Amino acid sequence: MITCSAPGKVYLFGEHAVVYGENAICCAVELRTKVSVEKSDEIIIESILGRTRLDHDTHPYVSYVIEKMRQFVDIPGVRIVIESELPVGSGLGSSAAVTVASIQALNHLYECGLSLEDIAKTGHEIEKMVQGNASPTDTYVSTMGGVVMIPQRKKLELINCPIVVGNTHKFSSTKQLVGNVSKLRSDFPSVVEPILSNIGQISILAEKLVAEGDYETIGKLMNINQGLLDAIGVGCAELSSLVYAARDNGAISAKITGAGGGGCMVALTREDNAEAIAKAIENAGGEAIITKNTAEGVRLE
Ligand code: MEV
Repeated sequence: MITCSAPGKVYLFGEHAVVYGENAICCAVELRTKVSVEKSDEIIIESILGRTRLDHDTHPYVSYVIEKMRQFVDIPGVRIVIESELPVGSGLGSSAAVTVASIQALNHLYECGLSLEDIAKTGHEIEKMVQGNASPTDTYVSTMGGVVMIPQRKKLELINCPIVVGNTHKFSSTKQLVGNVSKLRSDFPSVVEPILSNIGQISILAEKLVAEGDYETIGKLMNINQGLLDAIGVGCAELSSLVYAARDNGAISAKITGAGGGGCMVALTREDNAEAIAKAIENAGGEAIITKNTAEGVRLE
């Protein structure tokens, strides 16, 4: 059996603004989806969602991966087993991770010779097939790892402090939230365009701070970014509650990560208070995960 894994990601800065070409900084995190593959007589896909054949309802990403990989190689039958540390549909890039890890696992099994660039590109095509519209950010960061400035795809220094993720477990639709921001922007262009542009400016300022490891100032900017995300309507009571629980207990910073409206928030913490902040997030009703960033994108296990 061949096993590959790919990481999830958090946005340190710039979600939503990135949709309008503004800068964002995204960071791969050490929470991985593992995909194991072996040749078989039939197609079998196994995950916590069940055991299926090609099934675009239960396992849409992996089903499309198999179909797409059939353009490169004959795949009569394969058994694919998925295990994930990433909560599904919560803004941590779980769909990109399963897609990228599946492509790389089949790439190794069938010796297709796909490069990392090919994997990121194919992964993005598959995300678009399933979601209708998706930015290439998640699949790119999951493939390449590291801290990445978008849209330039420039690798920055790693973030050398704990990252605590808080999951509200409240469902949110990225498509709907992106649509809401688009409507707000066309209703009030003179107000909303500068907000999006200011979010982009924050990422530009932060690039140098990431290189310097100045997490205190990065944290101040993340908190400003959070205020601007609230201003464009992508916050919610559950996210705010976790954000303030983290900040009130000494987090360097806390903000939404991803589309908002539910899903996850992210906090940067000092080495000695990650546990306390995770506890505060749990007490405020969220599920906390302590993690760190990772330089490694998709890899063979
Ligand atoms: C969602 O994780 C991030 C958004 O910026 C949408 C996107 O970039 O596709 C809200």
